Amino acid sequence: MKIAFAKPQLPAEGAVIVGVLEGKVLTATAAALDLQSGGAVLRAMNASRFEGKKDQTLTILAPAGLELSRIVLVGLGKGEAIDALAAQSFGGNALAQVLNSGDTAVAIAADAPADAKLSPAEFAAHVAYGARLKAYRFDKYRTKEKKEDKPAVKKLSVLTAENGAAKTAFAPLDRIADGVYLTRDLVSEPANVIHPESLAEECRKLADLGVDVEVLGEKQMKKLGMGALLGVGQGSDRESQLVVMRWMGAKDKEAAPLALIGKGVCFDTGGISIKPAAGMEEMKWDMAGAGAVIGAMKALAGRQAKANVVGIVGLVENMPSGTAQRPGDVVTSASGQTIEVINTDAEGRLVLADALWYAREHFKPKAMVDLATLTGAIIISLGNDYAGLFSNNDQFSAKIEAAGKAAGEQVWRLPMGESYDKQLKSDIADMKNVGGREGGSITAAQFLKRFVGDTPWAHIDIAGTAWSKKDAATCPKGATAFGVRLLDALVAEGYEEK
Ligand code: BES
Ligand code: MN
Ligand code: ZN
Repeated sequence: MKIAFAKPQLPAEGAVIVGVLEGKVLTATAAALDLQSGGAVLRAMNASRFEGKKDQTLTILAPAGLELSRIVLVGLGKGEAIDALAAQSFGGNALAQVLNSGDTAVAIAADAPADAKLSPAEFAAHVAYGARLKAYRFDKYRTKEKKEDKPAVKKLSVLTAENGAAKTAFAPLDRIADGVYLTRDLVSEPANVIHPESLAEECRKLADLGVDVEVLGEKQMKKLGMGALLGVGQGSDRESQLVVMRWMGAKDKEAAPLALIGKGVCFDTGGISIKPAAGMEEMKWDMAGAGAVIGAMKALAGRQAKANVVGIVGLVENMPSGTAQRPGDVVTSASGQTIEVINTDAEGRLVLADALWYAREHFKPKAMVDLATLTGAIIISLGNDYAGLFSNNDQFSAKIEAAGKAAGEQVWRLPMGESYDKQLKSDIADMKNVGGREGGSITAAQFLKRFVGDTPWAHIDIAGTAWSKKDAATCPKGATAFGVRLLDALVAEGYEEK
């Protein structure tokens, strides 16, 4: 789908989408269409329950006196409440109404309410961004889909008097959407296609955007003493990989970076502590933390962020086999700390232990944040709307909460502390890899904390938010790319030169 910005001149044909404010207040284009259609817009509204409330929609087919296929009304809610996220929802909802209508050309009238929190150009840019996020589809393996079932929209025109400024404001958002698309693709791919080696290959492609990419294989990791990560991958025929992506966009290329670390378990069978069969296919997306880091690096490089950021992803496949690690095995991590592996299904923390330690030792980062589909327990705690946030630093934690809010990817901080940490005591090693069932997400975070030293650190457990079984305003069901927009906002607001 091509997106273009144009002056608000009504197209002669196709679909036109217009906004209506709460209380049936028509935006300028909606009012113009009402006039041209002999009052069809008001008549349709009055014959329905549509009032212009946020996310309400109403379609008017083949309005008299116009060549248009349809006029779609989309509720904007209250004008004064309209911010970037509301504009994105408007764009996503608008596109959703016409994606399967058969129209190939559609126009969204991006008339910004006078009291909105953003300028008309920014409003239009965020409308386009929301529409693009909603238009994502993973259909490369559908060979038999009927034409009439495929979205037909080829061209989206976003109409605004500020079309030049809107285009400029959209450019960096378009690059963030590129990152989101990449993450959604990688996370949607099955594990026979995306495994540690092929995912590392995908990372290498970021070199085209100026990202410096280095891939460490098992031999190099062995030298670095990464027994925790390597133990997880040792049952797989695929070689484990650690990928380091460097985007040094700040004026001072030597300045300490922000480090982003991702759990990249390309498939999690549970290993010898094997998972039940039902739903195991979902574990193809156990690399969503790595996927988000890779997408964020693409977004940052794409929009030429003036910040130093390193992305580190630990890529493994957790398989049961004759060479797999056993419950009770003791491994030595790169930090020198030993771990008794009580449960081979608590593998993500083992991968992150070595990746976090590597980030800290090699880059001395200003701060580091890891993203991981780490625990089923976080889904029980927070459901699918918020990711879990854990941190050893209140200021860094606040920055992440603010970035999540701005990006529409919300996080909720959970407590940490000595009493939880005690659960990790082992009889024969420095620690066990699991605590009890209670507070399972917190003990997982306590485990990670042992590998970050005094570096400001945050852990985001995205097990409940990386994949969605429901459609949302700016995201079709499936891989959400949760984290890409949060990380981009974190860099923009806290680590980028103005
Ligand atoms: N990848 C899973 C966590 C997960 C569960 C992600 C559901 C997405 C959806 C993780 O590796 C895991 O298996 N965690 C165990 C830990 C337990 C063995 C302490 C869990 O949550 O059950
Ligand atoms: Mn697991
Ligand atoms: Zn896992």
